[in-house]
Amino acid sequence: MPILSIKNLSVKAKDSNRKILYNVSFKIERNSTHLLIGPNGSGKSTLAQTIMGLPRFRVTEGKIIFQGKDITHFPASKRAKMGLTLAFQEPAYFEGIKIRDFLKAGNKNPSEKDLKKSLRLVGLEPDEVLSRYIDKTLSGGERKRIELASVILMKPKVLILDEPDSGLDIIIYKELYDILENVKEETGASILLISHREETGLISQKASFLNKGKIVLTGNFRDVMRKYCQSIGRKKLCRKFQSNL
Ligand SMILES: Nc1ncnc2c1ncn2[C@@H]1O[C@H](COP(=O)(O)OP(=O)(O)O)[C@@H](O)[C@H]1O
Ligand SMILES: [Mg+2]
Repeated sequence: MPILSIKNLSVKAKDSNRKILYNVSFKIERNSTHLLIGPNGSGKSTLAQTIMGLPRFRVTEGKIIFQGKDITHFPASKRAKMGLTLAFQEPAYFEGIKIRDFLKAGNKNPSEKDLKKSLRLVGLEPDEVLSRYIDKTLSGGERKRIELASVILMKPKVLILDEPDSGLDIIIYKELYDILENVKEETGASILLISHREETGLISQKASFLNKGKIVLTGNFRDVMRKYCQSIGRKKLCRKFQSNL
């Protein structure tokens, strides 16, 4: 049984009543990484927030099934308790608090041992970072790691990451994929990874291509990337996915 199934989901924005997603369906298998790719404005963040149950959006048709349960109308807090987690894009609100306190701010009240373990999992040395502050002295890569450590502490069953690689330079985002692979192995979670970067193919078992609010194709990474680069007209990228088959 898949851990998460999206079935014929149509979604509107509550404030403007605009329809954003049309009849979206796909499944995420247990302990796998599923890539969601699509141009800007295609509805990726809307889908992520709808799965999480954030109140900006309204499901008009379809279902979200998590661990066999229909959660379509559950509040976000209940989904979070069940093990759905959406990583915040920016831990900026927490500017100025200690990393230890930031990590404890999640609702699971982690032990010291868990705190340290989560930091090691993202490649940080606990003794060096626990008493530091979240401030400008942290690099972009360090921030991203700390954000991921906080998510690991929530013991997610499905971890939704909305463009975690945006704004990171090339070396750091490649490292990020390694870290995600570790997180998946160590926590047993599944990952819904929203990204434009072709390097994500190295860690994604399946992929879905979303365009104008509709799923164009779900399948293995190469087939989906080929379709994606054809429709966005990137010839060079297309050649790469055609020749390497
Ligand atoms: N509250 C809203 N009212 C109207 N349109 C919205 C609202 N929120 C998002 N949209 C539109 O929905 C589309 C999808 O947005 P989004 O999910 O952020 O796309 P992506 O994450 O793929 O870039 C965009 O055209 C965006 O402008
Ligand atoms: Mg987005």
